[in-house]
Amino acid sequence: MRDREVVVNLIHSQEALHAGFGGVVPEVAARAHLEKLPGLVTTALERAGATPGDIDLLAVTRGPGLAGCLLVGTGLAAGLAAAWDKPLAGVNHLWGHVYAALLAQPDLEPPLLALVVSGAHSDLVWMPRHGEFEVLGRTRDDAAGEAFDKAARMLGLGYPGGAALDRLARTGDASRQPLPVPLLPGLEYSFSGLKTALLYRLRDLGRPLSGQARMDLAAAFEHSVVESLLAKLQAAIRARAPAEVVVCGGVAANSLLRARAAQVVGAGARLTIPPLPLCTDNAAMIAAAGAHAGRRQAAVADPALNW
Ligand code: KG4
Ligand code: ZN
Repeated sequence: MRDREVVVNLIHSQEALHAGFGGVVPEVAARAHLEKLPGLVTTALERAGATPGDIDLLAVTRGPGLAGCLLVGTGLAAGLAAAWDKPLAGVNHLWGHVYAALLAQPDLEPPLLALVVSGAHSDLVWMPRHGEFEVLGRTRDDAAGEAFDKAARMLGLGYPGGAALDRLARTGDASRQPLPVPLLPGLEYSFSGLKTALLYRLRDLGRPLSGQARMDLAAAFEHSVVESLLAKLQAAIRARAPAEVVVCGGVAANSLLRARAAQVVGAGARLTIPPLPLCTDNAAMIAAAGAHAGRRQAAVADPALNW
């Protein structure tokens, strides 16, 4: 990353590696990190036409996440920082998702309100200035991404199924198989009841499930998650009256969420949703957070790190 320009952003996806297991296997994930990371660093330098001498700062994810993967990442980064004599910034993964929005919108600055929706988080956060975050609301149980992945699995879409469910939902009609929209008091989320509602509906419909019912259920589930997420975003907008609103994290790749968020936020605030490759986990968002806010954070792996 140079200023706010992404020079190179490489990903080695492990989806195929874990798909057969129906979820991420921590040990397998850590070994794959060890195998792939050094080569990715070399390729990134080549593609950028850069040498270590061109680098001002290294940034690495310190948490939250899987301990083994975080240790491989922070270990490699510490080694490179020592060998190249560079400063090293430890970055909170969740901060990274918010900073992805700054890469997408050149003049975006805090204060801002962010809805951060990923495989493990559904958080509404207020960011008054760089490196400061106040959690306004979160989920009591499953995160939105986790709920999408579990629903996708129930609908026979494999793992991780969020993107596949999104595609299937495009061909369905949510009103034919309506599911409840979870609405807790305050700014809290809950998606486990919705998941159970889908399970019971599938049981009632029996097997084999028609193709149309499968599409309609995908659309209904997506509708319920998206409307729940946006109802609380809207409440937070009323409470904080922000000029800038960000929707980010892997679930922000969802096409219905992107379209409906634009309607819900309206003209009162500017909405930034990063482009798809900057919504799902990526290296550029960690570089952006490291450059803006990471310098005072130690690069020590912390699997349970929070905001
Ligand atoms: O932020 P992320 O890449 O990884 C985590 O930090 O967890 O988010 C991954 C999550 C997964 O649950 C995945 O199914 C979901 O984001 N996801 C989607 C879509 N693309 C990715 N969910 C719904 N619709 C999508 N298009
Ligand atoms: Zn993430």
